[in-house]
Amino acid sequence: MGTARVVFDRWHDRYAQRLAGVRSSAVRDLFAAASRPDMISLSGGMPEVSRVPHDVVAKAAREAVHLEGAAALQYGSSNGRLQIRTLVSELMAEIGVRLSPDDVVVTAGAQQALDLFAKTMLDPGDVIITEGPTYVGALQAFSAYEPDIRCIPMDDDGMRMELLEAELKRLGPRGAKFIYTIPNFQNPAGVTMSPERRRRLLELAREYDILVVEDDPYGRLRFDGGHMKPLRSLDDEVVYLGTFSKIFAPGLRLGWITAPRPVLAKVLLVKQAADLCGSNFAQVTAEKYFQGTRWRRVLAELTRTYAERRDAMIAALEEHFPPEARWTKPDGGFFVWVELPPYVDCSSMLAEAVEHGVTFVPGDGFFPDGRGKNCMRLAFCYAEPERIAEGISRLADVVEDRLELYRAFAAAGALPTHEEGAA
Ligand SMILES: Cc1ncc(COP(=O)(O)O)c(C=O)c1O
Repeated sequence: MGTARVVFDRWHDRYAQRLAGVRSSAVRDLFAAASRPDMISLSGGMPEVSRVPHDVVAKAAREAVHLEGAAALQYGSSNGRLQIRTLVSELMAEIGVRLSPDDVVVTAGAQQALDLFAKTMLDPGDVIITEGPTYVGALQAFSAYEPDIRCIPMDDDGMRMELLEAELKRLGPRGAKFIYTIPNFQNPAGVTMSPERRRRLLELAREYDILVVEDDPYGRLRFDGGHMKPLRSLDDEVVYLGTFSKIFAPGLRLGWITAPRPVLAKVLLVKQAADLCGSNFAQVTAEKYFQGTRWRRVLAELTRTYAERRDAMIAALEEHFPPEARWTKPDGGFFVWVELPPYVDCSSMLAEAVEHGVTFVPGDGFFPDGRGKNCMRLAFCYAEPERIAEGISRLADVVEDRLELYRAFAAAGALPTHEEGAA
């Protein structure tokens, strides 16, 4: 065992105030532990890139250099190449969204779009509304601009509209800068917003005159192959974030944003300051990869792989987890959300889980205010089905140990609070 080293930071009083609210991502922090060979990682939402045929990617990259080297190796336009923006508008048309390539700005993944959009819109103290729990990377991107984040609880049909309405009533018209939602196979909860709620969300947003931001990395990873209409297909004013990370590969760092034209112009201005332009090389490579139909077969195969892993995880949870636990059953995407009794603190279980050779992400990282302690996010996208089954069995031992402890406390009439439990 190494000894923890305290590093004195003599610059500690020089950092911008706004960084005070930005927390490190538990998912990123687990990266090192998760890459130990004996470890079963149920933590990171990493796509199974080994199933993306490397020879096809190599051919696309070779063509990028040989056929379009002058463009691929040069700076490009800040909004992205016309060819890739055209590709994005074609992909969006397939899910019912009509766009011109001029409605698209290509970004370094949806993550950059989240940051650029937040930088464009937010002043300190501005209210924004998100689902609770929500994507930890969005919380990180948003919190750097010091907003007041209000989380709306979800159930199996996504964000609860009566609670959203109550919050909007409290805030009044234009009382929030935007509502951020991940309607398909939500990260981390795995649930999908129902069509009725999608319509209701847009009605409420119109009534209260608030922008809606739809983050949709997983929409095409639906296990029955179908599609649910995106919010953007029902309302042109919706800001939509897309990405190539889950339909191709995250290593290219390619995503996009579409927004009402004046908003998009501001985002573009902010992007110019951030990076001048994105990677032309990555864009040309993606353009080549998406020529023809091979990518569709690869994606269908990938989706089947994820479906098998989801099945393996749900089966293992049913077999090994205690009756006090509840979990979601996603129809697509990467994640299952597990809820344990309210007195359990999942962060304090993580070290023990790592000792048992399995990682997960404790739920409180997905809330801005410390809620979600009794929850965990489990990713089924990355491990093989047998490893998932083994990982869940190892994790169940840790959970069971903890519950036994709490059951003993309860029997003695002394159930600890979170604070005591975490000690
Ligand atoms: C909901 C959500 N939004 C955005 C992202 C960022 O994706 P990328 O930057 O790779 O496009 C992720 C990644 O996991 C995500 O789950």
